[in-house]
Amino acid sequence: MAEHYIHGFSDAERLRLIAQAQMLSTPVFDGLDFSGAQSLLEVGCAVGAELHLIEARAPQLTLTGLDLSALHLQAGRAWLAQHERISLVQGDAGTLPFADDSFDIGMTIWLLEHVSDAASVIRELLRVVKPTGSLILTEVDNHSFGLDPPQPAISAWWDAFNRCQAEIGGGDPFIGSRLRPIAEALGTEVLGVEVLVETPRAVISSRDSTRNRADQLQYLRELLESGAERMLAHGYATTEMQRAMATAFDRVRLRPDIAFHYGAVRLICRKTKTLTP
Ligand SMILES: C[S@@+](CC[C@H](N)C(=O)[O-])C[C@H]1O[C@@H](n2cnc3c(N)ncnc32)[C@H](O)[C@@H]1O
Repeated sequence: MAEHYIHGFSDAERLRLIAQAQMLSTPVFDGLDFSGAQSLLEVGCAVGAELHLIEARAPQLTLTGLDLSALHLQAGRAWLAQHERISLVQGDAGTLPFADDSFDIGMTIWLLEHVSDAASVIRELLRVVKPTGSLILTEVDNHSFGLDPPQPAISAWWDAFNRCQAEIGGGDPFIGSRLRPIAEALGTEVLGVEVLVETPRAVISSRDSTRNRADQLQYLRELLESGAERMLAHGYATTEMQRAMATAFDRVRLRPDIAFHYGAVRLICRKTKTLTP
């Protein structure tokens, strides 16, 4: 996986994930109510940056994070050593090492874009949440990213980024728009799942006056640059493209008339029956 995962597992990526969780905490957590729950599982937790924020919002929760990457988990365990309510477990999202009906809430944040079979991950999450439990899935739709007027060097890099992620990593960078149909299809199988709410989330927006424009642009730039090593290694991009993308971000920073947007989808589902007889 290490070689094919678009963001990699460097120290810089771990710091980017912690900064990202802070930067995107409002679109990710706004409107969520954890008050009736006692246990929460985040699948694809990386270093535990989201769990750290959830703990501050809902200190009654026992929090479990699962990730495939031993490197991310090792860093996360060191970082969260004093946080006794958070435990981190290594495993694959497609075969969760937990008993049926174990958690009140199952969550993914920026995970499903990286897996080849999102439906089987959602099915596993439904298995491990309690009969009254819910899933909260917050996932990107990379079609939603754009600048106005368009910046061709940034668009070219983004197209290459998405192709690299899908073809080398095997994920789906546009999963956000498919979440609801996937969950509804699961609901018509034997499985019991009801889609409660689907909400678009503006992850980054030049129209958002509550967040600094330069910080948001810097976030986008670091996100796009996080794919550089894999994109260059696998021939999806060149250093010229990388330089042109960086120059374009410098230009946009100085041009407040250029708008930008990046969106995600939050899907909340409820389990409606126990999956095993
Ligand atoms: C973009 S990171 C998101 C991390 C975290 N949710 C956050 O918001 O900070 C995606 C994570 O998914 C993990 N991942 C990818 N495929 C996985 C799989 N099949 N099972 C478990 N984790 C996986 C990666 O190792 C990475 O840590």
